[in-house]
Amino acid sequence: MSREAAAIAHPNIALSKYWGKREGGGNVPAVPSLSITLAGLATRTRVRFDDALAADELSLDGRPADEGARARAAELLDRVRAASGEQRRAAVWSRNDFPTASGLASSASGFAALALAAARAAGLDWDAAAVSDLARRSSASAARSLFGGFVELAAGPPDARPGDVLSARPLAPPDHLSIAVLVCVTTEGPKAVGSSDGMRATMSRSPYAQAWLEAAPRLHARLRDALAARDFREVGELAEASALAMHASAIAAGVLYWTGATLDVLGAVRALRASGADAYATIDAGPHVKVLVPAERAASARDVLRSVPGVRRILEASPGDGARSVSAEEAAV
Ligand code: PMV
Repeated sequence: MSREAAAIAHPNIALSKYWGKREGGGNVPAVPSLSITLAGLATRTRVRFDDALAADELSLDGRPADEGARARAAELLDRVRAASGEQRRAAVWSRNDFPTASGLASSASGFAALALAAARAAGLDWDAAAVSDLARRSSASAARSLFGGFVELAAGPPDARPGDVLSARPLAPPDHLSIAVLVCVTTEGPKAVGSSDGMRATMSRSPYAQAWLEAAPRLHARLRDALAARDFREVGELAEASALAMHASAIAAGVLYWTGATLDVLGAVRALRASGADAYATIDAGPHVKVLVPAERAASARDVLRSVPGVRRILEASPGDGARSVSAEEAAV
């Protein structure tokens, strides 16, 4: 006997960054974040609870996943089993159409797709907010990928407890702002320091940890206002400021995700601005730079960025839809 379900989810890129967790466990963000869910890049995941299995299994991009990734998936599956009464172990197949673990937020789309597919396979009729809370426990950025367009995840309260519910919520639909995200891929390799380790090191060692925790909510609130006003320039400036403040706090703890190519792209984005273009950069826990431009300027910005040394290729994405259940055929994993 087996029971299965599949889901598609898209990565998201944070304009105001989540970096740092509340103490006390439960994977609760210490700062609010605001992201764009990206069309054009996807994770497809299929989950099958099967009484023939002795342990949860995870296949990533056609190969058995390493034990760390398998154990993180098994933790999410344990939560689904506890909530549903499903007792069987599960086989999980997941495929990304973009590089895994490279700062392209594959954990966001990965855990969003896994949470939705696993909940459905176990017969849980949860709404997107409940699935978002489940995904958030594995990767807080994944909570945002349940929803489309522009999405907010609030910080947890300072005294948050592991059992508290915290879901992302949609702020505006995909067509709210005309924006293209140019993902300048600088390496295909996995990142050196995972985001949870990077956050922990920043919070415990960075002389700027407190400054970041104070600045982040202010940047976030201003960014939300600028987004509501459809003020592209202000959104871009605040997004770049959030990324630079996050990385400055991390770098001061010795957590350095940037390479020479990262700096070269940052320089090219400044040159674009100096020439009058609205182009802004943001960077997650990896060396890639995501460049934000008005959709109608994407082609010309792309021409400039393509010639930056160290840029291997450029993926273009725009605001898109949240995670959805699909048939196993449509998931094609
Ligand atoms: O969701 P996590 O644990 O992979 O952390 C994501 C952290 C950043 O991508 C750097 C920022 C963000 O808000 O997505």
